[in-house]
Amino acid sequence: MTILVTGGAGFIGGNFVLDWLAQSDEKIVNLDSLTYAGNLDTLRSLDGDARHVFVHGDIADGALVASLLAEHQPRAVLNFAAESHVDRSIHGPAAFIQTNIVGTFNLLEAVRAYWNGLDAAAQAAFRLLHVSTDEVYGSLDAEAPAFTEQHRYEPNSPYSASKAASDHLVRAYHHTYGLPVLTTNCSNNYGPYHFPEKLIPLVIHNALAGKALPIYGDGQQIRDWLYVKDHCSAIRRVLDAGRLGETYNVGGWNEKANLDVVHTLCAILDELQPRADAQSYRTQITFVKDRPGHDKRYAIDAGKLERELGWKPAETFETGIRKTVQWYLDHQGWVQNVTSGNYRNWVEQQYA
Ligand code: NAD
Ligand code: DAU
Repeated sequence: MTILVTGGAGFIGGNFVLDWLAQSDEKIVNLDSLTYAGNLDTLRSLDGDARHVFVHGDIADGALVASLLAEHQPRAVLNFAAESHVDRSIHGPAAFIQTNIVGTFNLLEAVRAYWNGLDAAAQAAFRLLHVSTDEVYGSLDAEAPAFTEQHRYEPNSPYSASKAASDHLVRAYHHTYGLPVLTTNCSNNYGPYHFPEKLIPLVIHNALAGKALPIYGDGQQIRDWLYVKDHCSAIRRVLDAGRLGETYNVGGWNEKANLDVVHTLCAILDELQPRADAQSYRTQITFVKDRPGHDKRYAIDAGKLERELGWKPAETFETGIRKTVQWYLDHQGWVQNVTSGNYRNWVEQQYA
């Protein structure tokens, strides 16, 4: 059997592909357009592995997706492909509309046509799993309960609005056409192969490079962190046993203020790779202009996933963040590779 994964050269998709093939021999066709965030270096260990077929292409290319579906006859499609960085969506929303909305729509159309042509047993077994985010729910006040699946959609950035639109399309394809879909809405991920434009890998990278550690505003915004491999296990569980047409929140019950996250990273780096001058990496912290429309707090209630499907994260924030820092110390070559070229231009523009 085969699954089709989109965006499998990115952070979460890449971790998912590696994780999947570490525990299964089921083939993966990996469709990725290799934007600045797509990195084949992440998948280097799969070179020559017949279980992984990489296809360079766009989810918005309906003819390409249709031909891949016809050729490989996957039993499931998992959609990780997206523009994913909030700050980039503020500077240039068009790419987010194109991939997250038009791309998802074209993917749905191709999958619908393929699914319609399957026999009854294959139709019943087929799944389209759409990977989404907690940001579609908007921002929480300090005392408000965590987001459940019933929380209304209130996206605040072009990124989250485009993800919300894609979630609605996926929902509509189930309701209208009966397409067997599942949606996951996950909180902030961290872990290996995370592109260093996002807070945690950016801070680790800048700390080691002797650069400023930029904190937006007062650093009191709260995010709910989940180790990426726990996100992968949740997706596998939802794919196996999720109820059709349902959405599942995924999170690790790890709410942290940004400044506390950065302090934790500095403390681990101080221990594992002390600065030559014996000063703390904390001295590199710099408060910079806030993100426009910055969401104050995200918090995920993952109770439904735990109650219905028995999923729980394996890592606490403390164990996961230590593993992550150690991974970056051990994989400086991977970081160097991504920090060349396009990434550097972006950083210069964002932090000018
Ligand atoms: P990422 O930016 O690291 O990777 C995205 C991947 O998609 C890249 O490999 C890129 O080349 C590919 N891609 C982009 N446009 C494409 C297109 N048109 N066609 C084919 N491939 C395309 O993103 P990520 O952090 O791995 O996020 C993956 C998914 O998970 C996204 O849908 C995102 O919204 C969602 N998500 C992310 C987080 C997080 O904390 N990173 C949390 C919850 C949900
Ligand atoms: O909640 C899930 C979302 O998490 C995903 O849907 C997104 O794809 C993913 O990028 C992430 O979005 P955030 O905006 O929360 O992540 P980011 O790492 O960009 O920022 C985390 C917090 O840190 C946020 O409050 C902004 C702040 N920040 C970020 C950067 C890059 C800083 O203070 N300084 C920075 O330089």
